[in-house]
Amino acid sequence: MKVALFGAGRIGKVHAASIKADPRSDLVAVTDVMAEAAERLAEVHGIAVRSPEEILADPSIDAILIASSTNTHADLIEKGVAAKKAIFCEKPIDLSLERALKVREIAAASSRPVMIGFNRRFDPNFAGLKAALDAGEVGTGEMLAVTSYDPAPPPVAYIKVSGGLYRDMMIHDFDMCAFLFGMPKTVMAHGSCLVDPAIGEAGDVDTAVVVLTYADGRLATIRNSRRAAFGYDQRVELLGSDGMLEARNEIENTLVKSTAAGVSSAKPLFFFLERYMRAYQIEWSAFVDAVVDGKPVPASAEDGVNALALAEAANLSLREGRPVELAQVMAEA
Ligand SMILES: NC(=O)c1ccc[n+]([C@@H]2O[C@H](COP(=O)([O-])OP(=O)(O)OC[C@H]3O[C@@H](n4cnc5c(N)ncnc54)[C@H](O)[C@@H]3O)[C@@H](O)[C@H]2O)c1
Repeated sequence: MKVALFGAGRIGKVHAASIKADPRSDLVAVTDVMAEAAERLAEVHGIAVRSPEEILADPSIDAILIASSTNTHADLIEKGVAAKKAIFCEKPIDLSLERALKVREIAAASSRPVMIGFNRRFDPNFAGLKAALDAGEVGTGEMLAVTSYDPAPPPVAYIKVSGGLYRDMMIHDFDMCAFLFGMPKTVMAHGSCLVDPAIGEAGDVDTAVVVLTYADGRLATIRNSRRAAFGYDQRVELLGSDGMLEARNEIENTLVKSTAAGVSSAKPLFFFLERYMRAYQIEWSAFVDAVVDGKPVPASAEDGVNALALAEAANLSLREGRPVELAQVMAEA
């Protein structure tokens, strides 16, 4: 299948490599509002730089991959659906739940697959945990704990346009809870600014704990920090009625040093580009499976809306200091 890429930034480059790596997909064009970024990527992959209009009007292009800035996603999904392209779009669909709900309707009516980039679903550790849970290997899942700490905070200029920690960073963890446990009934959020006072001055938190309560009593906790001195910390623990499942960090190497001073091992892989490189490749192949073989899309626009709704509920919960019913957030959107 022929693919065109929108956005030649950090994640666009990763996706370009995944498209090239799958023998069933062929990267043919790139577009970016920064001409230089598009030209550099085009040169690396020997492809054409084309305008968005040319790409959308070209019937030989089967699919578009949207890896441009967040504020372009909703518009580009709508244009892509209208042009009858299969669409892979990076998270989030939009920062507004109302807008994302409209996109979900449009995506649902499309005859072609529309997939949202929740890459962690494809991480072999988390995918293995889900498979074991679904197979009942630890009985019934009762309690879930998701830990997600970044190595260091992004620049405050990024924080200001990010939509805040819950929509920008925790969105992946909300999706992980939805992936493993489904959608909860209530969301209770706590947040502090402990890493960088400038993040607080920009109106955001950098340290956060959220508790999700499910209608049947199951519980999930998510812990986020914008800083972990030892690197990118990405773990999931699931307690079931017959045991526990743990997905641990992937580390830089497997050397373990044991001396009189103690026992030490390598740090976790530095950040998302290192930790999730395999997941991005598997994710892309799952999209190709959907387009070429008609398999179900493993992360849909509905999943994108669900994660955003949880983030909205967390924002409201933090503002009002109370648990928020998800149904209330959906009704008001
Ligand atoms: N799933 C993940 O792990 C993951 C990781 C990083 C980023 N993302 C998401 O991917 C998106 C891009 O993030 P990034 O870190 O690569 O940002 P980036 O700033 O490095 O790249 C974005 C690129 O999009 C270009 N762009 C902006 N408007 C455009 C338009 N209308 N058409 C074409 N190109 C346009 C910019 O010029 C820039 O080159 C964001 O929405 C982000 O949330 C997801």
